[in-house]
Amino acid sequence: MTEQKSLFSYETDTVGNESSLSVRLGRIKLDNPVIACSGTFAYGLEYSQFYNTAILGAVTTKSYSLKPIKGNPPPRICETASGMLNSIGLQNDGIDMFIKKHLRQAEKLGIKIILSIFGQDLEEFRKVASRAADVKERIIAVELNLSCPNVKKGGMAFSAIPDEVEKIVSSTVSILNIPVIAKLSPNYQNLVEAAKAAKKGGAEALSVINTVVGMAVDIETFRPGLGNVLGGLSGPAVKPIALAKVYSLAREKILPVIGMGGIFSWQDALEFLLVGASAVGVGTANFVQYDVGKKIIEGLRNYLKEKKIYNINEVIGRLRT
Ligand SMILES: Cc1cc2nc3c(=O)[nH]c(=O)nc-3n(C[C@H](O)[C@H](O)[C@H](O)COP(=O)(O)O)c2cc1C
Repeated sequence: MTEQKSLFSYETDTVGNESSLSVRLGRIKLDNPVIACSGTFAYGLEYSQFYNTAILGAVTTKSYSLKPIKGNPPPRICETASGMLNSIGLQNDGIDMFIKKHLRQAEKLGIKIILSIFGQDLEEFRKVASRAADVKERIIAVELNLSCPNVKKGGMAFSAIPDEVEKIVSSTVSILNIPVIAKLSPNYQNLVEAAKAAKKGGAEALSVINTVVGMAVDIETFRPGLGNVLGGLSGPAVKPIALAKVYSLAREKILPVIGMGGIFSWQDALEFLLVGASAVGVGTANFVQYDVGKKIIEGLRNYLKEKKIYNINEVIGRLRT
């Protein structure tokens, strides 16, 4: 029986060794490309009851602001066909609480932390970044949540205005002096311009996508499904949208992309890698299957072994069009 040849070229001296899952996004080096998405994993403590969350490429924390935020009125989560709507309203207990308490707990678990931050305006972003700078040796990167509302622009997301993206990225980069990831919203038509602005500002990578604006209606009560009326759609329903956004960005080769939106399995993750994502984020799936991150890492490892691909970088961006 003849052995099936690999689709890809690889270094022959790696034959027989475990396939390498490590990826690099600018200066950010990950042991594997699987990252827990912001807002869906806290900072890993609860999920550590189910598996060793230190095996993840990284965990992105809930987005932190300067002061604690209570969030939106309930209901804040609503199930939809093939996905979920949320309007948490960026609830968090403030960056100082993260630094004082949660970071140490995550460190004890061996979790590699990407700290997600946001502000209502440039000034708040700068203040939160200054606090984050105090712990920069203990985190691998800072992710800027640029999908949050900009109070100075009538509540429109920062992501909607490329000039704002550049301003926030460049000022936080200069404060932090560690890799900064710009997380962009899928709800505007200017994704490529926003990505270019993030690069100009000095970002190391992009996270794409945040949730897609949506709503639900209860026909018994005539009320919206969410207390806030509008919310963000995530889960399998958004995967084709996310794939298209990641594909269109990766093709432009602006910055390495962390692709996310509806990833529930290693096969989903592989689709994102093939369209050009250098790493993947897993969000809503964590609510359905607590150890999904582990399953995705194992699935990718087995796939590479079976296909005799010795380095995951061999599949990144290899979509045949
Ligand atoms: C309940 C919930 C809370 C979220 N909170 C945040 C957040 O605080 N900051 C952020 O950048 N994204 C947040 N997101 C967006 C996710 O990080 C992710 O970008 C999005 O859900 C798409 O991935 P998924 O379909 O795998 O969930 C949240 C998503 C959900 C479902």
